[in-house]
Amino acid sequence: MKDRILSALKSADGYVSGEELSHSLGITRSAVWKHIAQLKEDGYNIDSVRNRGYKLENVFNMIDESKVIFNAETVGKKLIVLKSTDSTNSELKRLARDGEQSGTVVCAYTQTAGKGRFGRQWQSDKGGLYFSFLLKADLPPSHIASITLASGYAVCLAVREHTGLDVRIKWPNDIIIDNRKICGILTEMAAQSDRMDYIITGIGINVNNAVFPEEIRHKATSLFIETGKMTDKSDFFLTVLKYLDKVLTSFLVSISLEDMENFKKLCATLGREVYVQRGDNPLTGTAVDITPFGELVIETQEHKTVSISSGEVTVQGIY
Ligand code: BTN
Repeated sequence: MKDRILSALKSADGYVSGEELSHSLGITRSAVWKHIAQLKEDGYNIDSVRNRGYKLENVFNMIDESKVIFNAETVGKKLIVLKSTDSTNSELKRLARDGEQSGTVVCAYTQTAGKGRFGRQWQSDKGGLYFSFLLKADLPPSHIASITLASGYAVCLAVREHTGLDVRIKWPNDIIIDNRKICGILTEMAAQSDRMDYIITGIGINVNNAVFPEEIRHKATSLFIETGKMTDKSDFFLTVLKYLDKVLTSFLVSISLEDMENFKKLCATLGREVYVQRGDNPLTGTAVDITPFGELVIETQEHKTVSISSGEVTVQGIY
């Protein structure tokens, strides 16, 4: 019944009265009210106005789980959608410790303590898409960087397909449009000395975000800002998960990014001057290549070749 009320609200042009709903669905007005309260509890933004009825707001921001279903092999075998959590990475970590299966995805409309790389905060208001996926694969810990890379590549392909925007990868794990960031990725793991217990990759995509805090406004953008249109998050999420599933399935088979040449074409870092912060030993040079395991190859000003697998990279002309 809740779903029928939801479809009635979705197809309505403006407010629908409780009376109309009760009549067309054959239930009492107090039952209508109860289901509306449950939908609000699920996170739907429903405006209720006396003598006018109910109106569904911002439906594009909702994730309709029945639309995010596909036959997943590696990522997306199970989807958990939460109204809010501290961080989807932390939530999934707790579930992983309790025996959650590989391939599970946890998504939240908002995060109260969203985590970015290097201990930073990840702003998580309702416009964005925030989720994490769990992998329990028998891999050496050295492969963690390439999992992040493969995930970024998958998101990049999904955004390109869904929006037609010229989206690129800023090595190792930012997705950018016109030199501004639309997506960040944070991979965490629990490992023994020689193998991983589990890997959690968290992805934050700026989808329908309209404004950003002052301090990141110059380097952040969203699909909404770039296209001028709201994106239906359920459709978009399905596309992203399908690409993640496809790319990570082949990654786990061959343990290298099968499509490395294509990845390189989409990588905005290659061919540019880069500065890498590495404690007391920073590095400046030109990014010339990416190894099959995802390391960035830099030719230094002293004509030495150095490969790096992680670190904060500033790319000339980007950020
Ligand atoms: C970065 O670019 O600094 C990485 C940002 C990663 C953000 C995502 S949002 C979903 C998941 N949960 C978190 O707490 N962080 C990641």
